[in-house]
Amino acid sequence: MNVCHPFICLLFLAGLQDGGLGPVQAETYTELEGRNITVSCSFYLTGRRMYFCKKDCSRENILVETTDYRAQRGRYSIEFNKTGTALYFLLVSITELKRSDSGWYRCALDQTWIRHTDFEIVVNYDSPAATPT
Ligand SMILES: *[C@@H]1O[C@H](CO)[C@@H](O)[C@H](O)[C@H]1NC(C)=O
Ligand SMILES: *[C@@H]1O[C@H](CO)[C@@H](O)[C@H](O)[C@H]1NC(C)=O
Repeated sequence: MNVCHPFICLLFLAGLQDGGLGPVQAETYTELEGRNITVSCSFYLTGRRMYFCKKDCSRENILVETTDYRAQRGRYSIEFNKTGTALYFLLVSITELKRSDSGWYRCALDQTWIRHTDFEIVVNYDSPAATPT
């Protein structure tokens, strides 16, 4: 049986994206130190507040948080992008990557509950010769 009010279906899809149901799909992005990186997180529903966090969105791990369309804090920024399709994008960026930026990040949208996507950033030395042996 597939009786599905459109709104409820969207909630279900958003739930999937949380990894709350089924396997978590995590991606790894690789960039060289000194470069900028932008990762696009997609969501089926919009939210009131957007977050870009290191590891998780506990208070001390929030890098940027905003209810606006874009915000920047130091080397970190976040931008809301509606494409005209049913998808909403959060573009999160880090400029002038450092090796120590390597790790897990999370983009999140908060409406009545928080939906999030996790991804990993790996920062490599900008030339193989610079790699310590
Ligand atoms: C990284 O972003 C900063 C700020 O937007 C910009 O000034 C700089 O040119 C960018 N660097 C690279 C390597 O794209
Ligand atoms: C919004 O995101 C889409 C897909 O990533 C991109 O093609 C488009 O240029 C973006 N628009 C803005 C205003 O950033």
